[in-house]
Amino acid sequence: MEGSGAEIAEEVEKSPAEEGGGAAEGFKKVFVAGATGRTGRRVVEQLLAKGFEVRAGAVDVGRARSSLPSSSNVEIVRADVTEPPETLAEAIGDADAVVCATGFRFSWDLFAPWKVDNFGTVNLVEACRKKGVDRFILVSSLLVNGAAMGQILNPAYIVLNVFGLTLVAKLQAEKFIRRSGINYTIVRPGGLREDPPSGNLVMEPEDTLFEGSISREQVAEVAVGALLYPESSFKVVEIVARREAPERSLAELFSSIKQR
Ligand SMILES: NC(=O)c1ccc[n+]([C@@H]2O[C@H](COP(=O)([O-])OP(=O)(O)OC[C@H]3O[C@@H](n4cnc5c(N)ncnc54)[C@H](OP(=O)(O)O)[C@@H]3O)[C@@H](O)[C@H]2O)c1
Repeated sequence: MEGSGAEIAEEVEKSPAEEGGGAAEGFKKVFVAGATGRTGRRVVEQLLAKGFEVRAGAVDVGRARSSLPSSSNVEIVRADVTEPPETLAEAIGDADAVVCATGFRFSWDLFAPWKVDNFGTVNLVEACRKKGVDRFILVSSLLVNGAAMGQILNPAYIVLNVFGLTLVAKLQAEKFIRRSGINYTIVRPGGLREDPPSGNLVMEPEDTLFEGSISREQVAEVAVGALLYPESSFKVVEIVARREAPERSLAELFSSIKQR
């Protein structure tokens, strides 16, 4: 969805209850970390379309103002996940759920993936604990557990780990979330595409899929859908899109996942 600000403003007139959306789990306000990212921005747009209020976390608030939809239901707040949980707790504010769509920026810093994709996510979970926020959606990646899946020679596993062990960093963050007691949904997408969805959603349990791609739009749908459907609670879901796959509702897909 690449909705204009005007379209979004119209859509936000609807409350979560009218949408049959946010009210399902009682969430009203959602903090999005990495809101300026290509997936994060879509998460913000779709949350607004479902009637949620959003606290959009961004490293650079000025840049976020020019890239995110302007709506009275969006508050842009500074949030660098490498900062301590106390600082992040302030950014989370009065939100009652968190979506983490961060990903390290390429730089000379080989530890960037570890700082952002592992410790950054851990900081955010700790911040949730401080605030008593009990719902956490993480956009992770297929193949994070590639070594255990016998995919150590999968080119994607190698490429994504060559720079700073990115997948290993993400797996560590996942493990922390799962031990934290927080109600989580970990979404592991395949290769991300900018183009609109071109196939139906395929959802499988953890450590099942090792290839495939998906539009960021669909990833955002799943991340926001996790807040709407309690069937997604305490689950790791792997997602790709396939043309030949049958069309199934998100509720049906989440229900089909039996967490190991
Ligand atoms: N690319 C793929 O094919 C692929 C496949 C599977 C999973 N994934 C994962 O899916 C997620 C989303 O990917 P994407 O391509 O949509 O991401 P993206 O466009 O690269 O956006 C990443 C976001 O993280 C933010 N960020 C970076 N460092 C941060 C920090 N220290 N504190 C807070 N925010 C920070 C960035 O902020 P700025 O805008 O300020 O840089 C940006 O908003 C990532 O975790 C990625 O690893 C990617």
